Amino acid sequence: MRARLPRLLVLPLLVLLATCRPSGHDATAFDYVIGVSMANLTEPWRINMRDEINAEAAHHANLRIVFTDAADSNSRQIQDVHTLLSSGIDLLIISPNDSEALSPVITEAYHRIPVVLLDRSVIGFDYTLFIGPDNRLIGKQAGEYVTGLLGEKGGKVVEIMGRSGSPPVLDRSVGFRDAISPSRSITIVGTIVADWLRDKAEDELSAWLKRYGRVDVIFAQNDAMAEGARRAAEKLGINGIRVVGIDGLPGPDGGIELVRSGALSATFTCPTGGKEAIIYAMDILHHEEGIPKKMILRTSLVTEKTIESGALGAPARPRLSPDHRIVLGFAQTGAESNWRLANTDSIKTAARQAGIDLVFVDSEGQPEKQIAAVRSFIARKVDIISFSPIVESGWEPVLREAKAAGIPVFLSDRTVDVKDESLWTTFMGSDFLEEGRRAARWLINYMKTDAPVNIVELLGTIGSAPEIDRTLGFKEMLKEHPNYRIIVSESGNFERSTGREVMQQILQELVAKGQKMDALFAHNDDMAIGAIAAMEAWGIRPGKDVAIVSVDGIRDAFTAMIAGKLNCSVECNPLLGPQLMKAVKDYMAGKDLPVRLITSEGVYPAAVARTVLPSRKY
Ligand code: AHR
Repeated sequence: MRARLPRLLVLPLLVLLATCRPSGHDATAFDYVIGVSMANLTEPWRINMRDEINAEAAHHANLRIVFTDAADSNSRQIQDVHTLLSSGIDLLIISPNDSEALSPVITEAYHRIPVVLLDRSVIGFDYTLFIGPDNRLIGKQAGEYVTGLLGEKGGKVVEIMGRSGSPPVLDRSVGFRDAISPSRSITIVGTIVADWLRDKAEDELSAWLKRYGRVDVIFAQNDAMAEGARRAAEKLGINGIRVVGIDGLPGPDGGIELVRSGALSATFTCPTGGKEAIIYAMDILHHEEGIPKKMILRTSLVTEKTIESGALGAPARPRLSPDHRIVLGFAQTGAESNWRLANTDSIKTAARQAGIDLVFVDSEGQPEKQIAAVRSFIARKVDIISFSPIVESGWEPVLREAKAAGIPVFLSDRTVDVKDESLWTTFMGSDFLEEGRRAARWLINYMKTDAPVNIVELLGTIGSAPEIDRTLGFKEMLKEHPNYRIIVSESGNFERSTGREVMQQILQELVAKGQKMDALFAHNDDMAIGAIAAMEAWGIRPGKDVAIVSVDGIRDAFTAMIAGKLNCSVECNPLLGPQLMKAVKDYMAGKDLPVRLITSEGVYPAAVARTVLPSRKY
């Protein structure tokens, strides 16, 4: 809650701007004011977002919401944010018109108050929480659906896109094209840009069909354009074109109704996140712990069949007696690192505190043992299964068994590589790709050189999600800096002792080849610490002769940084227990869960190690 004075400024603003005042409350009796800066208030999807925000805000008598409408103009939205800030709002929710153009003003806001980004992100990390869909995934699901629809015979597809340059346009298109590309008999014969608008889609498609003739499927990036396309075909008397959209909004003109009436073959729900924005904004204002950095919302396929079967939305939960104790089966990877020990401790403590019965299995780094543990949870009929997969592959069969048994699977820390994403319910953990990018960004910035930089990479467990993604993220950043070269990549299995042994071998090989190592990127701190010991035994000064960056942010890494032996640790937060237990309880209470919750994390260079160490919890 902020000082009283700004309320004086907020009140005129409440009158000036189109405001939401949940009825029946005294307009001056509020503790919090949230400013909501909308890119526009004309598209149906955004109107739905506003309505969800209002509906959720109505549950808080002490909250006022102030909306601004930028009418698709970047300069106007920048001005809107300034107006909201100067009126003394406590928190900003913003759905940016353009990610790049809005980034500076969002950074400015973030330095003053918490900022929740809706739908579109910004450049960098200057925000409190991002809530939105995974547009590439939605596009992929649409592509898979169209592939199934056309079958082996294949056919011709026209894609109708939203406004050029807007991030969902590219992501949805890339996801769609990736999904249809294996089928050689499907061809995208036309691409139309209709700016998200129904009437423009109708006019443009009508002209296209007159010129080029009939197609088999129209994939429109939103339902409004899908409806425009359908009208165009109808007016030209062309029957049998199947139209697929995205948004799946409720209400009389929404996508769900369009599917029910047969106007569209299918749509994919794209939640606005309006409700979640208010729920989390209130948690942020109440200084609750464990606020994620990113929350990715679930998408569902809407067809006549899914509507009829009632399969839309969250699956039905069993009715539980009030004294039912929730049983959670958790299969841990092992005890390979200090990070893992902290993770195990967090899960056990949080389960105890939440009153959840935890069946805990240590898989001792053996994928077969972990799969067997999951099978034993199914046999035991636990309420929920969770695990941190040692490796990404090999999960399909056992997850099918869990699904057949009606037991939901929550992935913790690491993901699985399965085609059918309905085999798991939710994921919570870090963005490993980003951790790899962050390590590379730090290194490039630290070395600041155009001279050749020889990098040794100590990989985590081969085939594990962090090993795969940290490598990808790191290499992605190096692409633009060809003087940075990875000369050796070896796995240290995330273990300190293995990190040390592997580094010894690498040093021997480098000497034999007459090669010099300038930097080390270790996929975790434990391996870096092992490698530091190996370097010292070799007479190399770690942190001085070799720049070292690793991932995790464990206490030992901070001690090594203070001693000048490690240069930077990129945080990977293992304290996932409270989030996991909250998700378990929410699920059992019938609440819908986001598809992914990404933890908030930082980057700690040696310069801040001494100040930060006392506050480290693991
Ligand atoms: O999956 C997270 C990784 O697993 C941590 O970075 C590493 O230390 C661990 O054991």
